[in-house]
Order: sequence, then structure tokens, then C-alpha cells
Amino acid sequence: MTTGPLSTPPSEARNRPENPWWVDAVIYQVYPRSFADADGDGMGDLAGVMQQLPYLEQLGVDAIWLSPFYVSPQRDGGYDVADYRDVDPLFGTLEDAEALLEAAHGAGLRVIVDLVPNHTSSAHPWFTEALAADPATEAGRAARDRYMFRPGQGPGGAQPPNNWQSTFGGPAWTRTVDPHGTPGDWYLHLFDSSQPDLNWDNPGVRDEFEDILRFWLDRGVDGFRVDVAHGLVKAEGLPDHGIRPGMITDSGEDVSGHAEENPGDHAHPVPYHDQEGVHAVYRDWNQVLAEYSHEPVMVAEAWVSPLERLFRYVRPGEMHQAFNFTFLLAGWDAVRLSDAITVSLEEAGKVGAPNTWVLSNHDTVRHASRFGLSDPTRYPNGLGAEDEQPDEALGWRRARAAAMIELGLPGSAYLYQGDELGLPEHTTLDDALRQDPTFVRTAGAEKGRDGCRVPMPWHAEAPGFGFTLGTDEGYDAGPAAGTATAPWLPQPESFGAYAADRQVDVEGSTFELYRELLGVRGELDLGTGAFAWSGLHSPELGVLAFTVTTGGGQHGHDLDSGERVPEQVVLVLANLGETAVDVPEDDAAAIFSHHEALQDGQLMPDSAAWFLKR
Ligand code: NOJ
Repeated sequence: MTTGPLSTPPSEARNRPENPWWVDAVIYQVYPRSFADADGDGMGDLAGVMQQLPYLEQLGVDAIWLSPFYVSPQRDGGYDVADYRDVDPLFGTLEDAEALLEAAHGAGLRVIVDLVPNHTSSAHPWFTEALAADPATEAGRAARDRYMFRPGQGPGGAQPPNNWQSTFGGPAWTRTVDPHGTPGDWYLHLFDSSQPDLNWDNPGVRDEFEDILRFWLDRGVDGFRVDVAHGLVKAEGLPDHGIRPGMITDSGEDVSGHAEENPGDHAHPVPYHDQEGVHAVYRDWNQVLAEYSHEPVMVAEAWVSPLERLFRYVRPGEMHQAFNFTFLLAGWDAVRLSDAITVSLEEAGKVGAPNTWVLSNHDTVRHASRFGLSDPTRYPNGLGAEDEQPDEALGWRRARAAAMIELGLPGSAYLYQGDELGLPEHTTLDDALRQDPTFVRTAGAEKGRDGCRVPMPWHAEAPGFGFTLGTDEGYDAGPAAGTATAPWLPQPESFGAYAADRQVDVEGSTFELYRELLGVRGELDLGTGAFAWSGLHSPELGVLAFTVTTGGGQHGHDLDSGERVPEQVVLVLANLGETAVDVPEDDAAAIFSHHEALQDGQLMPDSAAWFLKR
């Protein structure tokens, strides 16, 4: 892979009224369990999100994406949905969701919700009906046809239908017991046994999800993040595949004795990933969304590589965005990042879609910790006390510089709650408290994702760092007066130093860095600018350097005044190497750098700066 010069034309979309809001939106992921607890039960809730909207407004994001808040037994943090049209009492009520939508819209924030179409919860009425029904009857067969039931292999059907492995570890099949008490068929679950896979060949399943889309669109949601978007359709005949897919890696674990393969690589097709049939589903959904005039967006969570395959999800008439996990997986490595950016822009250009950039989410070790590992491209599924502990200060510095890369790039950016605080992973969580099904299903071999889901610290001095809110309005209202239940996962002591009240309005804090970056990004319209690698770009030496040109061009007119918008060129310079690099002296003024990044005309290692070119 080379990192030759690459440029994109000035965005046609800029300053055009038909430019949809999501093209360059900065979208903040709220993991409702861990964002803010308004009712004092130690679990985050929708009222907590509502109360913290002023914080998000202050930060300056365009939208929030809410991870699932639907009725759920919470066996997989809510990605096990029992009722797609209602709110789990843990998080509030449907009226709370409606009130949150209204309040967010009032604050100028769009709201994306999570859609989980690959599987339901085993507590979903469809599944309980399927289990209770007699499979020998027509009604029983119809109920079971919504899921992936199959007879077992071998004597008495005692062996699973094939060798597929659950992403969370262990077999992807669980045997049922027929209503009359004898062992019966098996059902497929690519994730936990409490998450049976739906059968997307069943027209009733397709109708149901179109109806669910409309249910939320009618309530005004601005889009959907589509869970496991690459998994809905399985290959005909369910052929064996002996590689366990990585949850958050692009390499799998060989459970069959075969050589290691990359299950996301289309050269070795995975019979339950990236099948052609998924695209028809998204073309149908695109039509449903097009019935609404408020430009709802669909973003694919698809662990698919290479990027050429991923961008097929955002061809015209399908999804609008797909998470760019290649960028996320590149780690703190200039060559890998440079390649990821180059290929992403090329592939996006081919299908006419905007890019997305993301560094962390609720499934990944937080990047502030990953970047502090001795190998900052490592991608473990969780960290525990016995694992290598990240260098916290180094990870923090790199995370801040990474934000300057991410938010300088044209396209849309996704932030995970706490990114803006420079929050690290909880890397020493007591194993007894872990809730991620991966931990149990791999017998502890993988720590899983609890460490990145630890409740947010709002107040340094309060119990639970103020996760349980006080009753006044606003994040700075002060914590509850000592009556709160402990947060559902304990926070590490170090979280105090990262608490929001230590950062908001505090010069030099990570929150203020994000706020300024978002402000400049918006002001200069970087999100729809034209990208080009700069002459300074030198990834082999650890230097990433690109320019983003905004304004000017054919469409460079202010929409309100009609006046021509002057062209602006911003240089983003990041030093991922080990030695300081010279910064351009003559033709650029630093508009922005962070903590001790620029010293004596040089950019320090693990730092970044933005320059406005004259
Ligand atoms: C991806 C989600 O992000 C993850 O949290 C969940 O466990 C799996 N899909 C299964 O729904």
C-alpha cells in the first residue's frame, strides 16, 4: 500500500441547500446505561440524558446516537431487544423518549437511535411463541420460521447443525426442548444464546422492521445506527466455517485447525457476513426513510473489509454512512492511519458517499488506553489487572492529538461519550463484576467490553463521581446528596481527574480542546472541505500532514447573504514519530495546538496542530 498524493475535489455539497445534515455531522454516542443517572438507581436513564443536554450543547456536537434503550433483559447491554417499540423501565418510559427527542431538537441536536435487526432477545414474544409452539404443527413451523431453527446432526440430532462459532465465544447454536419435553431442534445465535438470529428470508420479519422504522421516524428520530448490518443474511445451506469471528477485530480465531484467516476479508467469505442479500434490505429501508422529509440517516455497523466491500453499503439508494473501523483499527501508527485515510477517501469517492471517522465506541478499549500500550496498534477485547497496563499520560497525549486528526478530516465524525474528557478504559475492573457475555463465554480468556462502559464522571468530589445527578437542571447542578446507589460498574479512582467539572471552562482541558476543535471545524466548514496530503506528509517518519480547503469554488457562497465565501486552507499536522518535527514558518499561522505541542518552532512527538495557511 502506498500513500501517494491524494486529493478530493472541493465538495460539491458545500453551501448547497440540498446538502443533508449528516454529510459533515459530529455525532456523539450516548451509552444510556452509563451516561447519567437521574433516578438514583445507579443505572443511567433517558431523564439523565435529558438533564445533560446543556453539556452536549456546550460541547458543540450536531447529534447524539443513543445505544439501545428498549425493553430488554439486558443480557447484552440492551442489544437483546424484547420490544422494539417501548423503553425499558430501567431507562424510563416511551414518554421520556419522546420528551428527550423534543428537548434535543429544541437544543438543535438531532437524535439517532439504535436498530438491532440481526437478532431479538430470547424474551421477545416471537421467540417465546416459537419455543412454546409444537414444531410439528403449521402454526409452530410459522412461528419458528422467523428464526433460524435447524435439526441437529448425527445420532439423535445431538450435534449442532454446523460448526459456526458465536462471536462472543462458544458454539453459535443452542438446542431447544420441544413442548413435550424431548430434545428438539437447534437455533442459531451469532452472539449470546439469549440473542436468537432472525430469518431475513421471512417476509414477516422484513415487514416488522419496516414498521419499527416508521414507528420511530413518526416520533421524529433523525436516523438509525444499524447493528451487525453485515450479518442479517446467511449463505444458502449454512455451510461450515471454522473460524470464530472477532467481535472487534478483523482477525478471527481458528477453531477448526485451519490456517488463520481474516473473516472480514472477502477472499475468505464468511457465510454469515457481508452476503449479497443484505443490500436488498437496505435498499428497501432507504425507500422507507425517503418517505420522510427530515433527512433521516442510516449508518451501518458493518465489520467488513477491505474498505471496498464496506463502501458497497453506502452506494446510492442504500445506507448513508458506515462506521470506518479501518481508521479505528489503525491505532497510533502514521503509516496505517495514512493508508486508512487514503483508501477511505478513494472508496468514498467512488460511490459518492461521505466518510465517517471514529476512534472508540462501547465495544472497544478506549483509544486513550489503547494508544498508551507498548504496541499502540494493539486491539485487545478488554484489559484486566493482570494485563499490560497502559501508560496513561502517553495515551492521554496521543488521544488529544488523535482528536485533532479525526476532527480535521472532511466527512462525519463519531465521538464516544467520554472521548471529550480524554477518558481512559477501566483496566483493573474486578472480574467478579464483569457483565459482558464475552467474558463468561470465553471463560475469562477475553475480558470483554465492560471497561469502556464504566459510568461517566461528572463531579470529581461526589460519590460515584456524580454519575447520579442532583435534581437541579444542568450538569453542574451538583451531585445527589449522598443517597444514590453506587453506579452499576465502579469507576476507577483515576476518573476523578477526568470529571466534567474539572474540565468544562478550564483552559487547556480536553473538553475545551474538543469544544474549540468543533467550533473551528464548524466555522471553517472543514467537514465539507477538500482533502489533500500536504508536501510535509511523511508517514514513514511518523508525520501525518494534510490540508483541507474550504470555501471558494463553484458553490462557495453564503446561503444567507449570497456573498462569496473566501477560500481557506487549513493544514493539519500530527507527529506520531519519536522526534520533534519542524513546523512551516512562512506560510501558515497556528490556529490551534494543544498542550505543549509547539515548542521552539517544532511540533513535539505525540502532538498535533492546526494551521491556517495564509
Ligand atoms: C454490535 C454492538 O455494538 C455490540 O455491543 C453488540 O454486543 C453486538 N452488536 C450484538 O448486538
